[in-house]
Amino acid sequence: MKIIMLGAPGAGKGTQAKMLSERYGIPHISTGDIFRANIKNNTELGKKAKSYMDAGALVPDELVVDLVVDRIKNADCMKGFILDGFPRTIPQAEALDYALNNQNEKIDYAINVDVPDENIIERMSGRRACVGCGATYHVVYNPTKAEGVCDQCGQELILRDDDKPETVKKRLDVYHEQTQPLIDHYEKKGALFTVDGTQDIQVVFDTIVKKLG
Ligand code: AP5
Ligand code: MG
Ligand code: ZN
Repeated sequence: MKIIMLGAPGAGKGTQAKMLSERYGIPHISTGDIFRANIKNNTELGKKAKSYMDAGALVPDELVVDLVVDRIKNADCMKGFILDGFPRTIPQAEALDYALNNQNEKIDYAINVDVPDENIIERMSGRRACVGCGATYHVVYNPTKAEGVCDQCGQELILRDDDKPETVKKRLDVYHEQTQPLIDHYEKKGALFTVDGTQDIQVVFDTIVKKLG
């Protein structure tokens, strides 16, 4: 099953993708997590991506397309994958379509986690992220057992640099301008499934699983 997660920053793409990955036994591929790991390890890619991310802007398409197209050729993607945070622009979606087409494959579901802008800022300020395994928590809505430590891998949690309210506002603008058009793109392909992302995390998950089977 080949899935992509659509939705505004903070809509819950990562939270759901992680749960779906466990449920279906397919890898969760988050371009944001890949960039954050590269920044942490001070790689060339990390150095290039950091200034864009800190400003709430998108990293240029050419830095992300090949990375994902190569990643989904890995053996662990034989049964499918969940892309989280990619594609984010029409050119990225077209590059993905082209790569999959060449292998007679396609995206089965584009899951649009729908959350209005008003809810987003509050979610972001309470978010805590694990750079170790990509797990995401919220101080109120999804707390860890021990404060500041990842339940899954025991590493320390961080506040993301781009979760400051003014950066979040910028990311929302970028989302509406560049990423929201992908909803139409996947609707035309008959792959779109929209879920109300303001519901409880578990309710959102159950709704998606009901659709996916
Ligand atoms: P990325 O890491 O992808 O960030 P994003 O899309 O802005 O989305 P987030 O990760 O912030 O939110 P999410 O939807 O995953 O929500 P989460 O599950 O964490 O990208 C970061 C940056 O990298 C971009 O700005 C860009 O610069 C660059 N980049 C990445 N990919 C790129 C690409 N393809 N092209 C170009 N640039 C790219 O949930 C948020 C919070 O809410 C958490 O605290 C969570 O616990 C909580 N929560 C989740 N669900 C619920 C719920 N149902 N109810 C209550 N709380 C909830
Ligand atoms: Mg995320
Ligand atoms: Zn972890």
